[in-house]
Amino acid sequence: MSYGVSHSVDSIIYGADVFDGLGNASQPLDVAIKGERIAALGDLSSLQTLNKIDGHGLCLAPGFIDVHTHDDLELLRNPAMAAKITQGVTTVITGNCGISAAPAKLHSDAPDPMNLLGDKSEFQFSSMADYITAFQRQPANVNVAALVGHTTLRNNVMGELLRPANADEITAMQQQLDEAIAQGALGLSTGLAYRNANHASEAEILAFGPVLKKHNALYTTHLRTEFDAVLDAMDEAFLMENNFDIKVIISHLKCAGKNNWGRAPQLLAKFAEQGKNSRCSCDAYPYAASSSTLDLTQVTADFEITVTWSEPHPQMAGRTLADIASDWHLSLLEAATQLQPAGAIYHGLSEQDVQTILAFERTMIGSDGLPCDPHPHPRLWGSFPRVLGHYSRDQGLFSLATAIHKMTGLSAANYRLTDRGVIKQGNFADLVLFNRHTICDNATFINSELPASGIHRVWTNGHATLIDNRMIVARSGKFLTSHGKTHD
Ligand code: ZN
Ligand code: CU
Repeated sequence: MSYGVSHSVDSIIYGADVFDGLGNASQPLDVAIKGERIAALGDLSSLQTLNKIDGHGLCLAPGFIDVHTHDDLELLRNPAMAAKITQGVTTVITGNCGISAAPAKLHSDAPDPMNLLGDKSEFQFSSMADYITAFQRQPANVNVAALVGHTTLRNNVMGELLRPANADEITAMQQQLDEAIAQGALGLSTGLAYRNANHASEAEILAFGPVLKKHNALYTTHLRTEFDAVLDAMDEAFLMENNFDIKVIISHLKCAGKNNWGRAPQLLAKFAEQGKNSRCSCDAYPYAASSSTLDLTQVTADFEITVTWSEPHPQMAGRTLADIASDWHLSLLEAATQLQPAGAIYHGLSEQDVQTILAFERTMIGSDGLPCDPHPHPRLWGSFPRVLGHYSRDQGLFSLATAIHKMTGLSAANYRLTDRGVIKQGNFADLVLFNRHTICDNATFINSELPASGIHRVWTNGHATLIDNRMIVARSGKFLTSHGKTHD
């Protein structure tokens, strides 16, 4: 079908295999862009345009949505967002794992793991509105939608984080969350595994339920544990749905620790127990290794741990903890203690579990990339092409249409990003043109900042942000709210 467009359009992509983002098989179609929207699709040979792009032999998909990022401050620091655009990502969700750049009032250094987002001096947004204004003054190449971090709220109102919040502090956090969502945030994230949030009681978390319910907002959670008691932690997360009918998204779903390998089916069974009308979902990254700050409770000889940064010993970045410990004639734990504060990659997941979780119908793709890390986990530069190339094409884990759905239509629906994630007339022209035969993640654990291959063009809101291997700093990203309204 083609739609009547009376005069010329800005660009037409001819003859690409178009994936709608809903999981349907591709169709060869022409797609026209006018302004920031998709103007038409079908046989567009009768339309006029000055910018003709040959898409034959290539795939056209909705721009990918990275639902799990820590790009809060990176968007302002490096608006080109090369690590994202070179993967075809056109929208990022910030504020995950309990840590957000807004609304934040730092009294001293950023507490662990808020320090993953940036330096103390970069935390300048005491309200979500201030953060939105800063983004809109200097937009990035990608769209952004923001969660409010529970650890950030705790740090705003509590002097000491290694205890539960008291009633006054809970009231203050509820007010800050309420205000931030009213200003445009999507909802709340927690990072209950981290020591600075772990002392929060179940009651402290559930106190946010009425605020989220009032705004029909989301709850995302890095579970209280991803180790032995992971099923109990899922029960705790699902209380938000059971008690308040709030949409719950479990962050980077996984079975951590060698003695939990093989338990992924139990995690998926937990979702099934919630019932088929449950709106709970999850995200995952496509690697059998995690990364965060160097956590003393996760130090083990069961698997390799690579140190990615260390404030007192920066020269140790890139080396394994075992090597460092043996050089220093210390135990692993003693060496890890000396390195603090530090970051690490933990090779502590089973490949089979990773695949089982990626293939789960509710799983969205989220990179969890750490842009400030001097030796980042390769997920920062490789997650999306790796799902399309390695897992879909090479391993046959799911069809290309399904792989794309997990990073477009499914994500937009879960985060209620209206008019995005689906190729359809009238939707925003967030688009990626790629080669299904050559798409490939090049970033490795050794050489982790290599851009992917096979991405030909990327558009964010109708503006080209990548042409062949050339980044274009179009700064055409928008701040998105979950009602689909953009803050212009
Ligand atoms: Zn996390
Ligand atoms: Cu994260």
